[in-house]
Amino acid sequence: MAKASNPVSPRQLAATAKQASRRAYAPYSRFRVGAAVVAGSGKVYAGCNVENASYGLCNCAERTAIFSAIAAGESRVTRVVVYTPTPTPTTPCGACRQVIHEFGPEATVLCLCDGPDHIETTLDALLPGAFGPAQLQ
Ligand code: THU
Repeated sequence: MAKASNPVSPRQLAATAKQASRRAYAPYSRFRVGAAVVAGSGKVYAGCNVENASYGLCNCAERTAIFSAIAAGESRVTRVVVYTPTPTPTTPCGACRQVIHEFGPEATVLCLCDGPDHIETTLDALLPGAFGPAQLQ
């Protein structure tokens, strides 16, 4: 776990996300996704997708990583890195975008894959005009 004073490199984040994909529980889709998120403390939390025989309960890698950070006492997410085992990068699903917004409306998002391309974007670009905690105040 790297601290904010020693920011984790993009290469390390990519390695963490890819490594996490190996722990995916994806017997139904066989689509093994990994994520690494940088939390407010600067620590990095990993996650993989966790599927269920009741398909609707499948949890994406991004949300697993974010929930792990929150369960560890974090309250913010500043960067989300997602690795998919695809030739081109894929961006987080709508549910994950909403969850990222809850804890990191200003987060940056990096999408990596097995091919040479990547997508570097922001949560704001992925979920413009988002509904969030501010609307409930
Ligand atoms: N999945 C993720 O974990 N993250 C994404 O960004 C896209 C989809 C998972 C959910 C499900 O377990 C499988 O990939 C197929 O949709």
